[in-house]
Amino acid sequence: MKIWICPGSFDPVTKGHIDIISRACLMCDKLIVAVGENKQKKSVFTLEERIDFIERSLNGMKNVEVESFHGLLIDYARSKNAIGIVKGLRAVSDFEYEMQMAFLNKRMDENIETVFLMTNMNYSFLSSSAVRELALHGGPIEGLVPDSIIEDVRRKYHINSVR
Ligand code: PNS
Repeated sequence: MKIWICPGSFDPVTKGHIDIISRACLMCDKLIVAVGENKQKKSVFTLEERIDFIERSLNGMKNVEVESFHGLLIDYARSKNAIGIVKGLRAVSDFEYEMQMAFLNKRMDENIETVFLMTNMNYSFLSSSAVRELALHGGPIEGLVPDSIIEDVRRKYHINSVR
């Protein structure tokens, strides 16, 4: 069974993430969306919220599971018998950081490949931090995050209605 890991902090999950997940799960037998903490940045949404948001956005994708992980991604991937790590690339600006992560992970386990999918052009400008910034100021987040989580994202910032 070909198992891939799609890691991220998903703080919160965006439509860009869901687009990558929906395309990646067609290329493996099982895709595990692995929700972790980026130690360089503090998450706004709890681990439980981030997992719940993803689970509610999967729209019946049958071979996708959502889990949390701690420690090194490569250790987690190995513990799941994964053969690949899949990530989305939006622009050249993502490339340097992602390449560094891919090299470090390859150095620790040469049997686990990192695969990049180009983000759908419609979401090339989209990031979780942009969503958080908009939500913080009561801006419109429709079309940027899955419909099923819009109200939950707004509620986090105590903003209950559309501007
Ligand atoms: O792209 P993101 O959302 O900032 O990624 C977050 C995450 C948790 C996937 C990433 O920070 C990670 O893999 N953390 C685990 C530590 C690790 O293995 N780092 C890479 C090698 S140093």
